[in-house]
Amino acid sequence: MSIAERFVAMDYGPAPEDPKEALAWLDHHGRRFGHFINGTWLQPTAAEYFDTTDPSNGEKLASVAQGSVADVDAAVKAARAAFPKWQSLTPHARARYLYALARQVQKHSRRLAVLETMDNGKPIRESRDIDVPLVARHFYYHAGWAQLLQQEFPDYTACGVVGQIIPWNFPLLMLAWKIAPALAAGNTVVLKPAEFTPLTALAFAEICQEIGLPAGVVNIVTGDGSTGEALVKHPDVDKIAFTGSTEVGRAIRSATAKSHKRLSLELGGKSPFIVFEDADLDSAVEGLVDGIWLNQGQVCCAGSRLLMQESIAEPLIVKIRDRMSTLRAGPPLDKAIDIGAIVARVQLDRIQRLVDQGVADGATCWQPQMEMPSRGLYFPPTLLSNVHPTSIVAQQEIFGPVLAAMTFRTPSEAVELANNTVYGLAACVWSESINVALQVAAQLKAGVVWVNCTNLFDASCGFGGYRESGYGREGGREGLLEYLEPVWFKNAPRLPAASPVSSENSDDKDATAETAVPSIDRTVKLYIGGKQARPDSGYSMEVRGGHGQLLGEVPLGNRKDIRNAVEAARKATVWAKNSAHNRAQVLYYMAENLSLRRDEICHRLAAAVGEAAAAAEVNMGIERIFSYAAWADKFDGAVHNPPYRTIAIAMNEPIGTVGIICPREAPLLGFLSLVLPAIAAGNSVVAVPSETFPLITGDLYQLLDTSDLPGGVVNVVTGYSTQLLKVLAEHDDVDAVWCFGDEASAYAAKSLSTGNLKQVFTNEGRAIDWFDVKQGEGRWFLQHATQVKNIWVPYGE
Ligand code: NAI
Repeated sequence: MSIAERFVAMDYGPAPEDPKEALAWLDHHGRRFGHFINGTWLQPTAAEYFDTTDPSNGEKLASVAQGSVADVDAAVKAARAAFPKWQSLTPHARARYLYALARQVQKHSRRLAVLETMDNGKPIRESRDIDVPLVARHFYYHAGWAQLLQQEFPDYTACGVVGQIIPWNFPLLMLAWKIAPALAAGNTVVLKPAEFTPLTALAFAEICQEIGLPAGVVNIVTGDGSTGEALVKHPDVDKIAFTGSTEVGRAIRSATAKSHKRLSLELGGKSPFIVFEDADLDSAVEGLVDGIWLNQGQVCCAGSRLLMQESIAEPLIVKIRDRMSTLRAGPPLDKAIDIGAIVARVQLDRIQRLVDQGVADGATCWQPQMEMPSRGLYFPPTLLSNVHPTSIVAQQEIFGPVLAAMTFRTPSEAVELANNTVYGLAACVWSESINVALQVAAQLKAGVVWVNCTNLFDASCGFGGYRESGYGREGGREGLLEYLEPVWFKNAPRLPAASPVSSENSDDKDATAETAVPSIDRTVKLYIGGKQARPDSGYSMEVRGGHGQLLGEVPLGNRKDIRNAVEAARKATVWAKNSAHNRAQVLYYMAENLSLRRDEICHRLAAAVGEAAAAAEVNMGIERIFSYAAWADKFDGAVHNPPYRTIAIAMNEPIGTVGIICPREAPLLGFLSLVLPAIAAGNSVVAVPSETFPLITGDLYQLLDTSDLPGGVVNVVTGYSTQLLKVLAEHDDVDAVWCFGDEASAYAAKSLSTGNLKQVFTNEGRAIDWFDVKQGEGRWFLQHATQVKNIWVPYGE
């Protein structure tokens, strides 16, 4: 046999990683773990344990405590007790703890990697070279934020006690993504790892002990979904951060709706992997190996939908099959293994069931002839072709090594197919044309877009979804903000419960001559799609002044009117595509027009709020419009420099259609303070103006009409806000709902909108001083008006 022949025929020998150290660590703990609460190991109150096993061979690794409500309560109490001291440490002191965590993770990196692989089944190559280094990187990066916290976020404070629930696919990495920013921002945490993979979280608990982290700052409670549920429902938790399935994310949304818990959700995905005909096909195939076969495809951002331009579909499929045939499945502790074990039997069965359903739907299933281990939980790399876009395997997250392939003809068809999902976590675009790639990236509804690369992560780049993939980001400046709150907001008093507005709420018709005259010369209508519109109901509601005097009538908007307004808002796509400079100009023009009409608007507003307050509102309103005209071209993104040969372009993108329930107080200024940041960022809006003085609508649409704002960007529907909130919150084409009223309306906004998991922004029933620029305008509002998309672009040869 020639050397060349030998080279081709040469097979890999076994290259097993030695698990000795990890096993010794398990033995040292007697293979039985309690919870890590208040800096010590506590046995579960109910003395219940469950086994965690190695999915590659079925062997039991250890027994782990099943957390009860009482255990969760003990952990939350410990976190609460530790919070004041931890928060009051100097930024430098907190930075040193985070730095110590990073260093200690590095020192124990091999043991952590081996433990992760044994508990989860992922190839050691991945846990050693991807997971654990990224864990250390996350703690380093956030040691930096801890150090800079006061300088960079001077008006912000920690949320408090944070409950964190993580999945089993990247156990230690997800822990780092959660714990590092929380601690850097001054929070204390209770973390619940996934029931299949608790061991590295417990090893991390020990690391916290080793570096002398103050007791109670990090608490780890193990257990199943019921333990997670107890944490979510605990009344003394200020924020929940969750990564996992969309189904559980939705349940958590419902469970927290009637509380003031902040929430960030990183949920499922069905990410497109788009290959254009001018792509470097060999690189794209290597990208797929990382895109769908990394961690056996158990990756929330896995490129699980392959969209191929028709002209290269055949050669690409051949290349993919060839490459799949060279993948090696086997014991994950073998360093030469590509495909390890599936985490649990239930997950393996789920993958098989979905593949079977895909085939029943008409897909063709191809799997390479490869040697599979005789024991353990394995699933071969799988290619499903001829997949119909509506098939279950094109729509549902499989969370396994299964690629569903489809074709497209044009870039616009690729975008349409890519966005044809309820998810929006990630996407890949492969094309040698930077113009095509960036043009497509801009149109994809996804929080991360990798151009000619895939599954790259870095602590400096925010990661998180659009749509039903959740909201909030992990990593970057925006990730840190998830664990911070404006100081003024945390201290703001709650508004009293609002009494219903009705035409009978006052019979005091005794008003001054000036304000008692109803404005019979002008009929206020709804404002939809840039036109005045009559209400569907044909009814009006009376509007009364401070003394109960009748001021006029406004239309009583209903479900149909809101639906029409949402339709108009969704059609106003031109606004988001306009340049920021153009949006700024329109806003400046609006300020000019409000200034011109200052006296007449003041006069009408005075009837509701009094003369002095009316003048103050209009003057401040003009200023506020100037502010958002200024922000329109300044609230832009960033360019990150992750430690690869790539740049990541972080774009602040509009969310889409935003439904806004305006506050009752400050009818004009409240409206402007909410609608302006939304439109400055490129959203379109359906606004319900102040229920107490909706007559302002008449002035508003004249203002909007004369300011060159395209029709449909701002739509105004008057009526009872609780009724209209319900329609907006339940509407699937509304992407975010903002509700600024009393506590009950904040709860209603959150509970009614769980259907499509739309983003919710409320004042939590707190009083906002709209005249104070620190409270009433600026970045806090703009952050809620945007979502960050990171576009990764490689450079070099
Ligand atoms: P899951 O969403 O049930 O579990 C994630 C975490 O949430 C675990 O720690 C679990 O104990 C906890 N949990 C479960 N029910 C809870 C509740 N009611 N309240 C609070 N916490 C709760 O995910 P699971 O069952 O492990 O996997 C099912 C499917 O979910 C997978 O097949 C996959 O499709 C998807 N998944 C997606 C992930 C992602 O990152 N996108 C991660 C894990 C699973």
